[in-house]
Formats: sequence, structure tokens, C-alpha cells
Amino acid sequence: MGKLTQARLESLGAYPFERLKKLFSGLTPNPSLLHIDAGAGEPRLPLPKFVGDVLNANLSGFSKYPATRGNAPLPQAIADWLKQRYKLAHIDADTEILTANGTREALFAIAHALVNPAAEQKPYVMMPNPMYQIYYGAAVTAGAKPYLLPCIAKHDFAPILDAVSAETWQNTAFVYVCSPSNPTGWIAGRNYYARLLELADVHDFYIVADECYSEIYWQDKPLGLLEVAQDLGRDDYARCLVMNSLSKRSALPGLRSGLIAGDADLIAHFAKLRSYTGVATPLPLQHVAAAAWSDEVHVQQHLRIYRDSLAAFFDAWGEGEPPAGSFFVWLAVENDEAFAKAAYEQQAITLLPGSYLGAEDSDGYNAGSGFVRLALVDGVKKAAELAQRLKKVKV
Ligand SMILES: Cc1ncc(COP(=O)(O)O)c(C=O)c1O
Repeated sequence: MGKLTQARLESLGAYPFERLKKLFSGLTPNPSLLHIDAGAGEPRLPLPKFVGDVLNANLSGFSKYPATRGNAPLPQAIADWLKQRYKLAHIDADTEILTANGTREALFAIAHALVNPAAEQKPYVMMPNPMYQIYYGAAVTAGAKPYLLPCIAKHDFAPILDAVSAETWQNTAFVYVCSPSNPTGWIAGRNYYARLLELADVHDFYIVADECYSEIYWQDKPLGLLEVAQDLGRDDYARCLVMNSLSKRSALPGLRSGLIAGDADLIAHFAKLRSYTGVATPLPLQHVAAAAWSDEVHVQQHLRIYRDSLAAFFDAWGEGEPPAGSFFVWLAVENDEAFAKAAYEQQAITLLPGSYLGAEDSDGYNAGSGFVRLALVDGVKKAAELAQRLKKVKV
């Protein structure tokens, strides 16, 4: 391995679930209780009915190479979904859409498409803190400097933009936004996205919006970046790239299928990189994905379960409110690691310490510390039981 690559990789901590394994090593979960896994954000809902049929009908596609940009009918199905979901007047399936093998790889790869460490221009990649850890890993391995936008309770967990200097914006290649947010549940409003677009124009950077949880919300349907861009008259989606996934909306994390949409020039540039990295989605899976983007019935069924789970959790917990979006509860605790260990040993519950989803700022402060993340992905009954058992945890 090259020295530079090795140094960048070594500067990254272990992935949160590896850290959790280490934290729990030597501990025994309470043997008298059934284990509840609220750690991983993996929806555990029944497979949508159409999956098997569509897969079987398209098995012969395994005999062919798929295209990097996606094959018919998937890009058009994605374009149609984006149009109806975000009331877009147009989005072109050929030039403004790419398919992804789940958004994780695409969120990682985009940093490698947009950062130019050799030229030392625009070294910053901005991201919320706490964050989906891929953003941080992508920025570091691409040779960028991660710039952390703190998300704190006092500001409703919105990544704070106003404290950033003009010089820093000027040196920013792109900004990751996560709305609805994993882990805080914050949703970007119209003004937030509009402000970011304004800054992007003034300081010449891109916005990469991770909207994977767009179909999981408590009350108001989350806005999308493309929708806000269109409403501001930017219907070429300049500087915008949106990613979304079937993992959460359709409870198909194993399908590894997502979408990339937005600025046609950036899409062309990214498609070129992707044609070399070889991330085309197998044809039979593309057909399943097209069916999943074309059906809202299963999405509504899932939404009902997530909402009922959140309601059941907070009823049993007795205080606080469900997040605006996502199926995560971001719970304030005294010491997140100590709470996670106690929950595991006393109540056989796995949850994630918030500090594992954050990074330390220049003052050594980790904006994820003092919180734990619970994923309500096991149905309504388990969500209520989770709250009841958590109430008994003593640190
Ligand atoms: C915020 C966020 N973005 C992206 C992903 C990646 O999902 P996938 O690669 O399954 O599309 C996840 C998965 O947990 C996530 O929480």
C-alpha cells in the first residue's frame, strides 16, 4: 500500500460497529431477556411482495453486463419517481440520473470525483457532526480535510452554517447534507437548502444531499434539494447532487440499489469515474429496483409501521417527541459508552454510542457524545418494549 493511502486509512478510526463489538467484548447480555438490536439502521420488515416475481421474470439478465448509468427501465423509473415525489417539471433520465449500488458507495465515491488533493485547491469537504461515517471516511481517503458543521440541540440539530468564514467556504469543494438526518432526525427546510444554494453560488462548491430517509417522517413530508432548486428557478439543478436509496424506503438494504440525480455536468463527470470503478448494478436487480421506485403502496405500509413504532416508543418512554424524520431516536444520556454497556448487560439491548457517529473538532469536542442512537426497526411491540427496558437501565 502506498504511504499516503496507508496514512489516510490509519487516520480513520474503526467503523462504529467494529468499535461497538470491542466495547461489548467480555460483557454478557442479560441472559433472562431476549436480545433487542437497536444498533444497526437496518429495516427488518417483510419483503415487498413483488420482489420475488420481478426477480424471477428477469433472471436471464445475469447473463449480460449491465451499463454504468443503468439500463431501461430503471433510470426512467427513477426519473418518474423524482418527478412525482418532488413535483419536478422535468428531470432527464439520460443525463441527470445515475444508478448506484446502494448510496454508501456513491456517497464515498463522490468525494473521489470532486476533491483534487494534488492541486491543493478547495481542500475542505463539509459535513454534519455527528454524521453517517462514510462522509468522513470518503473525505479523508480522497485527500480532503473534513470540516465539521456541529449539530446541537440548541439549533434543532441543523448543521450550523453561519459560523463558517468566507475563506473556508471559498476553500470548500462540496458539502454533504443529510436530510432527514441520521442520527438526529433533523429535516432541512426550504430556507436551509436555499441558503446553502446561495453560498454554493457565491463560493463555487457543490451540494451532495443524502436523502435516504426521505420517506420516513413523523408529520411533514421532507422537502428535497432538487425541489427547492427548481422552485428557486434553478431547474438545471446546477451544483446539486441528490442521493436516495431503496434500503430504507423499501426495506431492501440487501438489494444494494439507490439513485444519484442532479447537475448534468457533474453527473457526466461522475459517470466517467464510475465507468472505470465498475459499479454497474446487475440487470435483474435493476428490474426489482424499477418496480420498487414505481410502487408507493409498500412504502406507505412501511411508513405506518415506523410511525407507530415511534409513537409506541415515546408513549412508553414518557417524555420527548419523535424525530421529524428517520426511524432513529437520538437520546441524551450522561455518558454514551457507559449507557450502551449498561443497556447491553442489564437489558440485553444493543444501541450505538453517539460519539461513534461523531468526530472530534479542533477543541477535542465530539458533538455526538452524550447521546445514544436507537434504531426502531423491529416493529411496534419491540419499540415499546425497548423504551420500557431502557427505563430500567442504571449507569
Ligand atoms: C444517512 C445514510 N446514508 C446512506 C446510507 C447508505 O444506505 P445504502 O447504501 O443501503 O443505500 C445509510 C445507511 O445506513 C444512511 O444511514
